[in-house]
Amino acid sequence: MARQFKTDIYAINVVDWNRRLFDSLIPLPDGTSYNAYIVEGSEKIALIDTADPDLAHIFFDKLKGFDKIDYVISHHSEQDHSGLIPEVLKMFPDAKLILSPKAKDIVLTHLDVEEDRIVVVEDGEELSLGNKTLKFVHFPWVHWPETMLTYLKEDKILFSCDFLGSHLATTDLYVTDECQVYESAKRYYAEIMMPFRNIIKKNLPKLDEFEIEIVAPSHGPMYDKPSFIIDAYKEWMSDETKNSVVIPYISMHGSVERMVDHLIKSLEDRGVKSHKFDLSVTDIGKLAIELVDATTIVIGTPTVIAEPHPMVSYAAKLANILKPKAKYASVLASYAWGGKPIEKVAEMIPNLKVELISPLLVKGKPNAEELKAIEDMAEQIAAKHKELGIL
Ligand code: FEO
Repeated sequence: MARQFKTDIYAINVVDWNRRLFDSLIPLPDGTSYNAYIVEGSEKIALIDTADPDLAHIFFDKLKGFDKIDYVISHHSEQDHSGLIPEVLKMFPDAKLILSPKAKDIVLTHLDVEEDRIVVVEDGEELSLGNKTLKFVHFPWVHWPETMLTYLKEDKILFSCDFLGSHLATTDLYVTDECQVYESAKRYYAEIMMPFRNIIKKNLPKLDEFEIEIVAPSHGPMYDKPSFIIDAYKEWMSDETKNSVVIPYISMHGSVERMVDHLIKSLEDRGVKSHKFDLSVTDIGKLAIELVDATTIVIGTPTVIAEPHPMVSYAAKLANILKPKAKYASVLASYAWGGKPIEKVAEMIPNLKVELISPLLVKGKPNAEELKAIEDMAEQIAAKHKELGIL
């Protein structure tokens, strides 16, 4: 059943314990949840979002007992929250669907919804439920252009949709283990929100006018200490980076691994922290988490038929999409008979606004001179980190 957490306010948490991949791309080691909410005013009742259609049976089981819904608020048109809207509108034929102007076209092209059921709301518009008032805040690009949030004025609750959420399957209503949620939320930020860091930063002041006692996201547990997640987001979105080098790589016969290990040792000797990711075994979400704060990225690749290894190409393209705030990058590459792996990797990361630190291409395994060049690379990286005041 739905769980009441404030007077006349209920959470419908649909916990997806077994989901391990989102958008056929994002690893979910801890599952996820799709959270909908009910707000019962003295005159009208609103349902905020729905759940993923794959778990419709859980959602509708928890919706039992609510005989009337006047408004369905759709924050975001991605189907893990909007997918059950058509069925809900059929169950409650008088209900109106409330969404942002940009959401209207997306909903009409993605879902089986009649246009005359839709009511578009502007940024800052309010909707009275009687003794409870919903205020809609357009908050584009967290992480689609149509997204909005809702602030429940009387109870000081921010329904934040994907924003501030975490992919974490739990029956906890509120965060109970901040360390666990911090990692899940950071993974979520890295994979979903980081590409839109700058535009989110621009919209963040819109929340300053609200006193927020509870953040109720669409994934993961609610926050009854909102500063925990809001402060974390501010840090992740800031331009500050940490004394950290992320090294995603592939090694087929040991040459690249030897270069990577020598770089890590050389960085360690200079007080710089490394994160080594063998792309043949790594959880790509862990890599994304470390990209949130890293100052430098060094990509290691062998040459496969004159190209970078395909798994390196995949990781480079993913990093390019995620747009981390790293400031420096380099490449360690090896080859047997030909190719331009360094140039090809560089072409794959145009979105990264990085300064290139001299890369290194070796034939076969690195010789003494090339190992010295890796130490020079470490020296350059350490010097750059010192200039930033993070070392
Ligand atoms: Fe949780 Fe963007 O959907």
